[in-house]
Amino acid sequence: MKVLIVGSGGREHAIAYSVAKSKRVDKIYCAPGNAGIGLLAQCVPIGAMEFDKIVAFAKEKEIDLTIVGMDDPLVGGLVDELEAAGLRAFGPRKNAAILEGSKAFSKDLMKKYQIPTAAYETFDCAEKALEYLKTASFPIVLKADGLALGKGVLICQDLGQARDGVKAIMEDKQFGSAGNRLVVEEFLTGREVSVLSYVDGKTIKTMTSAQDHKRAKDGDEGLNTGGMGTFSPSPFYTKEVDQFCREHIYQATVDAMAAEGRPFKGIIFFGLMLTEKGPRVLEYNARFGDPEAQVVLPRMKNDIIEVMEACIDGKLDQIDLQFEDNAAVCVVLASEGYPVKYEKGFVIKGLERFEGEDCYFCFHAGTKKVGDDIVTNGGRVLGITAKGRDLKQARENAYQATQWVTFENKYMRHDIGKAIDEA
Ligand code: AMP
Ligand code: GLY
Repeated sequence: MKVLIVGSGGREHAIAYSVAKSKRVDKIYCAPGNAGIGLLAQCVPIGAMEFDKIVAFAKEKEIDLTIVGMDDPLVGGLVDELEAAGLRAFGPRKNAAILEGSKAFSKDLMKKYQIPTAAYETFDCAEKALEYLKTASFPIVLKADGLALGKGVLICQDLGQARDGVKAIMEDKQFGSAGNRLVVEEFLTGREVSVLSYVDGKTIKTMTSAQDHKRAKDGDEGLNTGGMGTFSPSPFYTKEVDQFCREHIYQATVDAMAAEGRPFKGIIFFGLMLTEKGPRVLEYNARFGDPEAQVVLPRMKNDIIEVMEACIDGKLDQIDLQFEDNAAVCVVLASEGYPVKYEKGFVIKGLERFEGEDCYFCFHAGTKKVGDDIVTNGGRVLGITAKGRDLKQARENAYQATQWVTFENKYMRHDIGKAIDEA
């Protein structure tokens, strides 16, 4: 069978790695892909938002399954367009991807169906938001309603910061039209954990847990990024937490979407905070996490194509989803200066060291082939993932493997997975 993957990051490389392991797959294409994905798939120079070209390509090549990895094309309705052309696609339709595409929608859904989340108010006008903030207690959280590359969330310590935040989001439109509406949310404290799941419209099967590190610098300092590293499983995701989420969050979300006439098929990513009062949903994403996919997928025992097809066909109840009884850690190698300003185009050396390894993985995020070289081409460059019998071993292995690769301006956090020492 022929598979097309849409996207170009570390997540799509991890998906391509899993797809390449499937016995049912003969040929993989990726639009647009990157240098690492190019080792497993044929990359085609079509952007993830070029829907007409993607549909035309999938028809021409008689693609059997298109996997949409990224949020923007999902929220924009790429799956609907593929289906309208008679093609099979994995991912939610536009009316379901809104679960990620609009924070106001997801908050209203959780309120209506009593899914535990932070208290909130929604505003379409800056004046009303400011009026409300005058009487609010701090810290407080401001969220741009729409997609903002994971950067549309501001935690404000006082009214002054909140005023600046409202101005940045709603007036200066720092996140574009994502800031046409604003969600103002109660500030929660606790450990964060990501749980990804496969969903077929009615059945949900959760994957092993993971934790991201969103800030740029050690000790969770610095600006928010797309994610600087992950580990899986999270030792804080206990049986009790799992039990609570099964009772109050996972199936409840799938049922709520179905009840709203927006059946969700694809991946639901639950961003949870484990508060003193119990787990709360911080956010939903409608796709694999990046770099959560890089630690979750290498531990999955199932054939990913079988699981994805079961989601599309509404037969997920027949799948016995299984993960290896080990751990994985991913350390992102970034360009110094990310997420603000950084140089690109430096030659990456040492990549061949990962060939033939089955416990060490080098997932490419921002890389490009130039002649015979592979060069840096983004803020997040590579995701170095290693497995180990437990989290400590996996972390040791991952940090060791970060030394195999060199490039100018290489930057990483040194404390990915440090929290596991406290578990
Ligand atoms: P989100 O994009 O909604 O996941 O938000 C990005 C990050 O902001 C989360 O990973 C949290 O660290 C933080 N955050 C979001 N909502 C809240 C909240 N209600 N209370 C405290 N921190 C939050
Ligand atoms: N790592 C967080 C995300 O993919 O949204």
